[in-house]
Amino acid sequence: MPDDGKPLTSLVANRLPWHSLDAAFYTDPAIFETDLDVIFGRHWIYVGVEPDVPEPGDCMVVDIGRNSILIVRDDDEGVRAFHNVCRHRGAKLVQEPKTSVGNIVCPYHQWTYGVDGTLRFAEHMAADFDRSCHGLKPIHLKSVAGLLFICLSDNPPDDIDDMAAALTPYLAPHDLPNAKVVKQIDLIELGNWKLTMENNRECYHCASSHPELTVSLFEYGFGFDPNSGTEARRELAARYQALVGQCHIDWEKNGLPSREIDHLDDRPTGYRTERLPLDGTGESQTLNTARASTKLLGNLTDAKLGGLSMWTQPNSWHHFMADHIVTFSVIPLEPERTLLRTKWLVHKDAVEGVDYNINNITAVWEATNKQDGDLVAMAQAGARTSGYEPGPYSPFTEGLVEKFSAWYISRLKAHQEP
Ligand code: FES
Ligand SMILES: [Fe+2]
Repeated sequence: MPDDGKPLTSLVANRLPWHSLDAAFYTDPAIFETDLDVIFGRHWIYVGVEPDVPEPGDCMVVDIGRNSILIVRDDDEGVRAFHNVCRHRGAKLVQEPKTSVGNIVCPYHQWTYGVDGTLRFAEHMAADFDRSCHGLKPIHLKSVAGLLFICLSDNPPDDIDDMAAALTPYLAPHDLPNAKVVKQIDLIELGNWKLTMENNRECYHCASSHPELTVSLFEYGFGFDPNSGTEARRELAARYQALVGQCHIDWEKNGLPSREIDHLDDRPTGYRTERLPLDGTGESQTLNTARASTKLLGNLTDAKLGGLSMWTQPNSWHHFMADHIVTFSVIPLEPERTLLRTKWLVHKDAVEGVDYNINNITAVWEATNKQDGDLVAMAQAGARTSGYEPGPYSPFTEGLVEKFSAWYISRLKAHQEP
């Protein structure tokens, strides 16, 4: 029972569309546990990229709630996920966030697993001990053009295949599998994970909060009221709309799918993508809008490709430019603490100091994340007070926030129904 006394079923049933959620959804420990179970335990969760584990034996550990997930590149160059738990007496196997191994050796009694999860070695066990029954427990994993999604459920939503089929033509030209992670920053936001997500799904706050991001990113990409604001801003909005139309024609002519696909709230594995023009030179999300890496991704030759933005429910967003990729994953830690993990990638052959400068690559989103983290903490501080009540979303600028909240509520409902 949530701490405001209303059962979750009634909070879910009575959620007011186009309004922020009841406070209990942001503060209540019981709802937080439900989120871990229903949302993060039964949906496809974005955890990282293939270049996190570029070589056979490379491992990455991602912790979600009580679960520790081991992601490994096997000897056949495939990527697999396992529960990071020894099948002997259950010790956590790999402690480091990233490491490289020949075999996976449990530090407790040295049970030894291959990178395919099979148990290869276990001393002093009974004569009838069957090693083949004690391999690592697999976790469903799907790579979508190099983006890694895991599902902790035994029956993951099968619509991930539709998402992969729709998104791969958009993502593939950026050749994520042949990029390299040049920086990762883990930021702890002092708010519920849904406030982190809601904040990401609108740019209503961009003009007032994100001086670095709005050099390149048009705040209008998330919608706007054509009759609001000063004349100068209305002109900018009109220029933006014309630019979107023209760029989509040009990019698609050159074989780059660009038009919006939006399935954020009509399926278990919700997603959306669109290639959006950038301001200035139109090349990259940098402080001067120019490419930050001279070595472009994949076989791209034109840097002026704007940013392919992509969002997935419940926990990710991504920006693919011609020169670099920024990717974000959101992991709930506690009811009022959330991990925002950001990774920046460039072409795997790009050389720091020659082709790119790391500070130039990360400047915009490092600043933007900090600003967003402060906004999330502010929203959480308000949600905690007795003065909070769900407030109305803007029909022009917060349509994707509504899609996030509606998706979340619909998934809880689907779980409640027999
Ligand atoms: S707990 Fe892993 S070898 Fe004993
Ligand atoms: Fe923001």
